[in-house]
Amino acid sequence: MSSDVILRTERLGKRFRRRWAVRALNLEVPRGEVFGFLGPNGAGKSTTIRMLLSLVKPSEGRIELFGKELYSHRKDVLSRVGGLVESADFYQYLTARKNLDMIASLGGGLTRRAIDEVLNLVGLFPRAEDKVKTYSHGMKQRLGIAQALLGNPELIILDEPTTGLDPQGIKEVRELIRRLSKERAITVFLSSHLLSEIEQTATSMAIINMGELVVQGKVGALLNTGENVVKIDARPLEEARLLISKQQYVKGIKQINNTLEVNMPLDHAGELNTMLVRAGLEVYSLIPRRSLEDYFLSITDGSTDIR
Ligand SMILES: Nc1ncnc2c1ncn2[C@@H]1O[C@H](COP(=O)(O)OP(=O)(O)OP(=O)(O)O)[C@@H](O)[C@H]1O
Ligand SMILES: [Mg+2]
Repeated sequence: MSSDVILRTERLGKRFRRRWAVRALNLEVPRGEVFGFLGPNGAGKSTTIRMLLSLVKPSEGRIELFGKELYSHRKDVLSRVGGLVESADFYQYLTARKNLDMIASLGGGLTRRAIDEVLNLVGLFPRAEDKVKTYSHGMKQRLGIAQALLGNPELIILDEPTTGLDPQGIKEVRELIRRLSKERAITVFLSSHLLSEIEQTATSMAIINMGELVVQGKVGALLNTGENVVKIDARPLEEARLLISKQQYVKGIKQINNTLEVNMPLDHAGELNTMLVRAGLEVYSLIPRRSLEDYFLSITDGSTDIR
């Protein structure tokens, strides 16, 4: 059922006064994927997620979840979705279990076993009877994901779930997401402003910038094929250029100032380096760059929140 689309937006837009935070956004999230929603600060990720969870009303366009229009089937549709917007807020003086009990009771309540199960899933079962105030930031974030998992959702939507975590916490949350997807077949939609994070966690992705979609597709297809470039600073430059042009895997060379930009598969970068060094050239730098990575770095470098 890989062609099954679980979430679709059509020309989705949100305007705050005269400024569009999100505009003409067409997203398609296939069922079973971990879908990474990547964009720099202020790109419109949280605004989109708020619309998807029906916390903010779109100014235009439509949202379809499970093949149904969100606003006309809101209750039914949202009962199948779990969400985590910003870091979750819990009662610090209550235990994790009590917090989840209270949240579950809003939706009609869940059995102790159902709560045990989500606590187990996020690895908090052994600490379930501890007060939330004794939790680390990473544990609170996992409790936030546990909250999103109450009621057995088919889709969970997480807004930057690893923000503010240390490397160990990030690793835990990433592993949890992968596990939910693999073992539970839950579709995960998660936002991030880090390409590396999406690359490590997601199977499909979209990039949003200034409220507009830049690209979407499978992570592997977008990042590992297509226009890849190795930037080389080697001396003498002319000699390097000549040698490089003779390699059969090289598709093209451009010179920009004192750097050669070689269009080639990145897995030949090491071989190219060895060849240049063996030929007696001095290689000052050799940087493999995927075009999407370059693009993303360029929009994040210059990004500000003022528009
Ligand atoms: N309630 C609001 N009123 C006015 N403008 C808003 C509101 N919420 C968001 N915006 C604007 O919409 C744009 C997108 O914001 P959004 O929070 O969706 O970005 P983001 O991609 O989540 O950024 P970040 O990575 O910083 O979380 C920004 O210019 C922001 O100032
Ligand atoms: Mg945000």
